[in-house]
Amino acid sequence: MHPPTAPSSPTPAAPGGLPLIGHVHRLARDPLPFITSLREHGSVVRIRIGPTPAYVVTDPALTRRVLVTEAADFAKGGKIIDALRVFFGDGLATVADGDAHLRQRRLMQPMFNKAHIATRGPAMIDQVRAMVTSWPEESRRDVFADMNDVALAVFLVALFGDGLPAHLQGEFTALMPEIMKGTIRQTVLPSWLTRLPLPAHRAHAERVRRLRELVDQAIEHRTASAPAHRPAAELPQPPACPHDPPAQQEAGLFDTLLNAEHPLTHQQLQDEAITLLTGAIETTGTTLAWTLYEISRNPQVEKRLRAEIAAVCPGRPLVHDDLDNLPYARMVLQESIRKYGPAWMVTRSATRDVDLGGHHIPQGADVVWSPYLHQHDPAFFPAPEAFDPDRWTAERAHLTRGSFLAFGDGRRKCIGENFAWTELQIILATILQTWPRLELTSRPPKAQAVVTVKPDAMTMTFQQQP
Ligand code: HEM
Repeated sequence: MHPPTAPSSPTPAAPGGLPLIGHVHRLARDPLPFITSLREHGSVVRIRIGPTPAYVVTDPALTRRVLVTEAADFAKGGKIIDALRVFFGDGLATVADGDAHLRQRRLMQPMFNKAHIATRGPAMIDQVRAMVTSWPEESRRDVFADMNDVALAVFLVALFGDGLPAHLQGEFTALMPEIMKGTIRQTVLPSWLTRLPLPAHRAHAERVRRLRELVDQAIEHRTASAPAHRPAAELPQPPACPHDPPAQQEAGLFDTLLNAEHPLTHQQLQDEAITLLTGAIETTGTTLAWTLYEISRNPQVEKRLRAEIAAVCPGRPLVHDDLDNLPYARMVLQESIRKYGPAWMVTRSATRDVDLGGHHIPQGADVVWSPYLHQHDPAFFPAPEAFDPDRWTAERAHLTRGSFLAFGDGRRKCIGENFAWTELQIILATILQTWPRLELTSRPPKAQAVVTVKPDAMTMTFQQQP
């Protein structure tokens, strides 16, 4: 039984829809101005993606109802998730709400608790330092690519332990950007078109096949380096190899799944590894790239950050225990996450006819919520385009009244949030410790909303002289 609600009023439609394609041209051409403009039209606004209507929620209080208090009426789903499931299988991010999701969530939660992540802290820090110190001084670096590479390397060492075969990281690095592009293309094309054997589709399928092979190799590396672990059901056993790592290596976070009481199938392990890999890399990579950009143009922010890091670890490298003592670094990162998304369009599917804030949403309709939209709402974030880490001081943070939804909320909230904060702080602090000066060498980047909100182009040089 659901409580009676006031009669629903017609949901306002976004202007500018075209016959057949609806608002697809706006979502393709200028998605961020389009999605934030919807707020002017109401708290729930109807758009059309091709012929299909979707309801965009522009009021964060209503989004909380969708995600938390009335989550049963708004299931994880929608056209995008359906298309992603082809790629992720039934990994944690795409599996339907219900018992299977709850079981997987319970199983994976301990992977990402703070104490468990801390066991990988030293290896994560070593990995970042090795990469960041290897950048040649004064060379122009593609910052978005670099940040994705570092994020990927840290993720691999945290989840799969030290000593992964070197080719794995290189191949993952080369494959992931193409896979992300191909996956997005699959989600926006009509499903009949994605089934045609076009060269681009065949290339995508081939890359996905290779990614699954690489994931197998990473998992085999873990099972080989931790002989105490029960081999997962159906998992092919690794061949004896002269490059096998020594058996005493430290555990990776992925061991939680390899040691599950009820062993996961080979397919489940692959699906979860791919889900985590795709959820973890570009979200943190783009956050770091935008953070470096904002630091490069806000000297006061840079000065405070450098002073904080120097005071906490004077003349010595960062250690994991330092992270709790870097509150300003965390505020700077939080402000980047607020200002640049990174998630800008997330969907749910109405499980029944629902009234949301006086608007009727029919059963089966796609419901869209956007952290980016809420985090640019001037009612909660005055001057939303300003980069102002002090919004996150204890005195001011309450003014945002729950409208910072970058990691989502409710039962589908980001499981990797703790990991993301740890990784972001480690990478930011290590870059600043290693390089006393950084300088933007490209024009100011434009925000491009594709998978995440990423910079269209950004290069920098890193220098030893302040
Ligand atoms: C700045 C970094 C990140 C941001 C902003 C972010 C954002 C999000 C958001 C908004 C959701 C919820 C989607 C929904 O409600 O439908 C989510 C879910 C998820 N994230 Fe993240 N994420 C980040 C980093 C990570 C990392 C580092 C990992 C893995 C280590 C990860 C793994 C996942 C997974 C597996 C889910 C699905 C959870 C579920 O459905 O139960 N994310 N993330």
